[in-house]
Amino acid sequence: VTLTQDELKKIAAYKAVEYVESGMVLGLGTGSTAKHAVDRIGDLLRQGKLHNIVGIPTSRKTHEQAVSVGIPLADLDSHPVIDLAIDGADEVDPHLNLVKGRGGSLLREKMVEGACRKFVVIVDESKLVKHLGGSGLAMPVEIVPFCWKFTARRLQNLFEDSGCVAKLRTSSGANGEPYVTDNGNYIVDLYFKEDIGDLKAASDVILQLAGVVEHGMFLDMATTVIVAGEMGITVKNK
Ligand code: A5P
Repeated sequence: VTLTQDELKKIAAYKAVEYVESGMVLGLGTGSTAKHAVDRIGDLLRQGKLHNIVGIPTSRKTHEQAVSVGIPLADLDSHPVIDLAIDGADEVDPHLNLVKGRGGSLLREKMVEGACRKFVVIVDESKLVKHLGGSGLAMPVEIVPFCWKFTARRLQNLFEDSGCVAKLRTSSGANGEPYVTDNGNYIVDLYFKEDIGDLKAASDVILQLAGVVEHGMFLDMATTVIVAGEMGITVKNK
């Protein structure tokens, strides 16, 4: 039997939830893969197999889902140290660096996942890449709405040599209205023709631009990546 991509996501998510122990403060990720982990944590709480869990959601959407499955919630203000976070990713490179944020939640994800002792990433094998941003897919950057065209142009100019094209993300369905993040900001997606080279250098120049809030490169943050593929589960540790 061939498994669907969603079944692979679920397998990775369930595997990650095996790392969860009663009494933990948990970072709850966002997206179609993380959703399975949140459901599973809710199931285990209901079955009495887990107790004393506090969840720190990485988006409004996950907040709603967690409430609906009965996970008690808090935030970083009250829980500045998180035991374990579980979240999906859009790209994973061989060093376990990630691209995240195609679902739009990169800022809260980076805040929460930057505050955890262990960060377990769950993906199906389609997310594995050799180089971040090399797949022709979006590298998201959250920016303030004020003069967004100015910021988008400056971002594009930073990576001129890599054939970068910067596009404002629009919300699906609406008439090309800007997509607005949970934090009231916009997202510019960067598309590269060439390899962007040194990731840390790219991260630094992006963050130096006034108007930029955060970008979707999660460098040196994941401690474990669980990959579900047709041939089974692979666990990669930092
Ligand atoms: C949300 O902003 C993202 O970072 C998601 O975690 C990432 O896009 C993975 O989502 P899927 O599991 O839906 O692919």
